[in-house]
Amino acid sequence: MGKSSPDPSTQPSDLRPPPARGFTKPAFDSLRPQSFPPADERISDLVVGSVVGRYELLAIVAAGGMGRVWAARASGQHGFSRFVAMKTILPSLVHNEELRARFFDEATLAAKIHHPNVCQILDLGDSDGLPWMVLEWIDGAPLSELYTSDPTPIDARAAARIMSQVCAGLHAAHEVCGDDGEPLGAVHRDVSPQNIMVGEGIVKVTDFGIAKAIGRSLTTQAGQVRGKAPYLAPEQLTAQPVDRRTDVYAAGALLYELLTGRRAYDGETDAIILMKVMNDLPQKPEELVPQLPVPLRAIVARAMSKRPADRYPSAQAMQRALDEWLVQASPLSDSALTRIIVDRLGTAIFDRREQIKRTMTDRASGNGPARSPIELIPTMSSLEFQPWI
Ligand SMILES: Nc1ncnc2c1ncn2[C@@H]1O[C@H](COP(=O)(O)OP(=O)(O)O)[C@@H](O)[C@H]1O
Ligand SMILES: [Mg+2]
Repeated sequence: MGKSSPDPSTQPSDLRPPPARGFTKPAFDSLRPQSFPPADERISDLVVGSVVGRYELLAIVAAGGMGRVWAARASGQHGFSRFVAMKTILPSLVHNEELRARFFDEATLAAKIHHPNVCQILDLGDSDGLPWMVLEWIDGAPLSELYTSDPTPIDARAAARIMSQVCAGLHAAHEVCGDDGEPLGAVHRDVSPQNIMVGEGIVKVTDFGIAKAIGRSLTTQAGQVRGKAPYLAPEQLTAQPVDRRTDVYAAGALLYELLTGRRAYDGETDAIILMKVMNDLPQKPEELVPQLPVPLRAIVARAMSKRPADRYPSAQAMQRALDEWLVQASPLSDSALTRIIVDRLGTAIFDRREQIKRTMTDRASGNGPARSPIELIPTMSSLEFQPWI
């Protein structure tokens, strides 16, 4: 939180764009959408209780080096009210043109994807030069939370069903077309346990922040490696061209982790992990879980092939393989799958709901501070949000 932020209680409730005034043009100004107002010293930090557009910030659910994710409430006429998530860039970074462009690119790409296994984007805007995007509220927790309270592997059928849905969501992203009907060749590039949300009947791919797609302003940067080390395919690590099979690799690494409770590649440092990804094979999953069904071992091995040509040609093909195995495995009902997920998440979802409810009750009764300092929801603080490079 910036110490020099003006007293929030004296700020206007709606952060309307102020009248334009002189400012120094940043070097990459061409990347800025034409309608965008200049970002300058007027940008103040956001706190719980701030109103951004027609959204009221209720609680912070994730804080990273570059931005924040908030629980927020959209209000409308006739008492209309709806829970949403809002993503914002840190005020100190709003001048970073690359970050801004990435932020708008993320929203533009995500807005084109309509699929139940992909987090919906609902709105995009800026207030006082501070960009924000509004997402459907996902009442869940990142997949990474499944193993925080219990490291034993989950039921293989649950792992396969979760990954089948992840693959369906990824396939929808890979197939997305531009307004001209031409495929955008989108690749998520950051498929990792932090970017998959699960909950009661929920599996959703989120965070298209570093996705690649034709037309993105920042796709052509050569030699940049982004994403999280244990899930990066060899071609991504060596800055070779990536395509949908790069996400298939990451889905394979996620499946490995769900089935075994262990990362396929792990190490003290990212450099060690990268060396392993390039040169080694992961420990055979059946050595960790001897009863692992043979078809699932084969799916992991194929999805995680070092050469893209040896992998499933698409996330849909990987989904089909998972579904074929599921059909002949003993059935796992929707309610049983939900129970497994909810039991594993422990209190993560419950705590988050409680925190938001408390904030709303306090504010409605006038008891709580109108604008309180940001407080991280404790159960979410264990998450890592630093991009790897
Ligand atoms: N739509 C959402 N609903 C609820 N929580 C969300 C939503 N989107 C993101 N989050 C939370 O915020 C975290 C970070 O979001 P993400 O989109 O991955 O941003 P980042 O770019 O910081 O990685 C997620 O792991 C999740 O805990
Ligand atoms: Mg993320």
